Amino acid sequence: MQDALKKQAAAAAIQYVKNSRIIGVGTGSTVNHFIDLLAPIKHQFEGAVSSSEASTERLLAMGIPVLDLNAVGTLDVYVDGADEINSNLELIKGGGGALTREKIIAAASKSFICIADQSKLVPYLGKFPLPIEVIPMARSYVAREIIALGGQPVWREGFTTDNGNIILDIQQLEILEPRQLENQVNNITGVVTTGLFAERSADVVLLASESGTQTLSLEKQ
Ligand code: 5RP
Repeated sequence: MQDALKKQAAAAAIQYVKNSRIIGVGTGSTVNHFIDLLAPIKHQFEGAVSSSEASTERLLAMGIPVLDLNAVGTLDVYVDGADEINSNLELIKGGGGALTREKIIAAASKSFICIADQSKLVPYLGKFPLPIEVIPMARSYVAREIIALGGQPVWREGFTTDNGNIILDIQQLEILEPRQLENQVNNITGVVTTGLFAERSADVVLLASESGTQTLSLEKQ
């Protein structure tokens, strides 16, 4: 059922990309549905900027050209999933470990459309362990700094990001001030980035449930 809702959210995003020349594409099982749904309309746009090797592989398999962000400038639209979403459309992302490239594309896009099933909407961020990408030699140092902030870092052993780094998943955080925590964690030397998307939150969340797909946007609240 959850997978059907992910597909429903992905389908709702298609109307948001219809007039875009180049589409920013995230990572994960919800985005995989979105990529599949892009295939039949691939002649309507030039290509995609991808946030991971996994999405790149899937896009190319569908015959969708993958472009270098450096060559295309600001994107009109970026579509991606999330692990948690709050009512301010701030997100935790990085369950799939692609958070840094995802954050870069979100920053470089005019509009960020987040697609998810309703289970991702939460009152407070932090039940889902917050992923942070870390330079490998800084792992222990960063872990100590996270403990000092009140978090419980767990090394995602055996996992290397597309950028050659490691992930620490921070447990036991009740994130009451997402922007503040994002900046604090990003400020720790050795952290590449955190999976908190608060400084650059989503513009629109398409949230699928059995009764339909709800559109959340801050203008409407
Ligand atoms: C990957 C992500 C994904 O968007 C997030 O983990 C949600 O994944 P899914 O769509 O499989 O539930 O941030 O780094």
